[in-house]
Amino acid sequence: MIKTSETTGLSVDWSTDAIIARRNRYYAASQRAFVPFEKPLIFERGEGQYLWDERGNRMTDLLAMNLCISVGHAHPLVNAAAREQAEDLQHCTTMFYHPVPAHLAEELIATMPAGEEWVVHFTNSGSEAIDLALMMARSHTGNHDFIALRNSYHGPTYGAQSLTGIKSFRHDVGLLSGVFFAADPNQYRGVYGEGTDPYLDDVENTISYATTGNLAGMVIEPVQGYGGIIEMPKGYMKGAFERVRAAGGLAIVDEVQSGFARTGDNFWAFEEHDVIPDIVVMAKGIGNGYPLGAVVAKRHVAEAMDGKFLFHTYGSNPISCAAGRAVLKVIKEEKLQENAKSVGADLLLGLKQLQNKYKVIGDVRGKGLMMAVELVKDQRTKEPDPDTTAAVFEVTRDHGIVVSKSGTFRNVLRMVPPLCLSHNDVDQVLTALDKCFASV
Ligand SMILES: Cc1ncc(COP(=O)(O)O)c(C=O)c1O
Repeated sequence: MIKTSETTGLSVDWSTDAIIARRNRYYAASQRAFVPFEKPLIFERGEGQYLWDERGNRMTDLLAMNLCISVGHAHPLVNAAAREQAEDLQHCTTMFYHPVPAHLAEELIATMPAGEEWVVHFTNSGSEAIDLALMMARSHTGNHDFIALRNSYHGPTYGAQSLTGIKSFRHDVGLLSGVFFAADPNQYRGVYGEGTDPYLDDVENTISYATTGNLAGMVIEPVQGYGGIIEMPKGYMKGAFERVRAAGGLAIVDEVQSGFARTGDNFWAFEEHDVIPDIVVMAKGIGNGYPLGAVVAKRHVAEAMDGKFLFHTYGSNPISCAAGRAVLKVIKEEKLQENAKSVGADLLLGLKQLQNKYKVIGDVRGKGLMMAVELVKDQRTKEPDPDTTAAVFEVTRDHGIVVSKSGTFRNVLRMVPPLCLSHNDVDQVLTALDKCFASV
């Protein structure tokens, strides 16, 4: 299955065996390792909320390429914005001026809470943005110690990995010092059960008994993504950040998965927690697949770094920023936040009905188009069931859906589709999931 482009003359070999052979031969172990399916899944084309494999089979995408595809695959407006920019100038390194990234900075700031003076630093990815947030908080406060949550994922770079609690993402390489982990306020299986107070006490105790008492900051995902769609309960972020600020630290929110209207009620997931962060980290959905990340910080916080430049070669790339501007326009014009809210509610309801049918589904949760089902061996003991999860996951493709397997125990099916998923798709998704569960 070799296809040769008439325009470029470049050939691509689409046959499964050839792709596997090339990956095995030429990819480093660190790049080869991330293959959740037993049989590889190869995608050739995407449009809206659908993907087509190399044989032409259509699937509904409930993963959005790990949430990068916010407004839909091959969105015409996003691609037009990127194409127009590519034809003029593909890159403009930040030492030269270009208006497009500056426009995007202004437009991103318009999505932030009013009453603060916000500034933007563009990066190439989410983990770079997390590293920058870490550095910015340490520079601004003059303190070293950080708090993160145990079930967090913040990225693969040294800094982001050091803030990541889940062991499978932490390499045995001696990560950064000064990071301490507090208990997750997971309302389904958290160590202190339901409620927020014991978890806030845990933050207090972590500050008192693990750190120096002087904090640089705490970073929280308002909805933990790879942790298995764990939403922070009301009151937790506010209470945790109050304690962190009392110890001199900054409030940092990681919106890499939960941002850009995904949770439906608000553009940013932190907005419903009655907090104004000092730093917000974003990536993925910001560019609908064009690589981009950003730190948005209060001006006085970011000013701490004015003495030295910090240069991301591709940060503020004009093609990615043009795509980013189009993403913001599409979210607004196509009312994708409202869509995420209403289609998400529909899907969540259907998933709850499936829970009544299949005992293996211990929990169904989520908000907007960010949801999950958690599989357990016994609904009472909540013992995780990674084997059934893997079996269900493996057959999802046969029923035309793409989902992801997540959570510390690999027992969560995560669903985070492009924000254009429609009410019509919901029936197909639920029927497909029903068949998957029935088949195992
Ligand atoms: C919540 C969260 N933060 C940060 C990152 C890191 O982003 P990137 O993969 O773009 O470096 C991710 C990536 O999955 C993420 O899910």
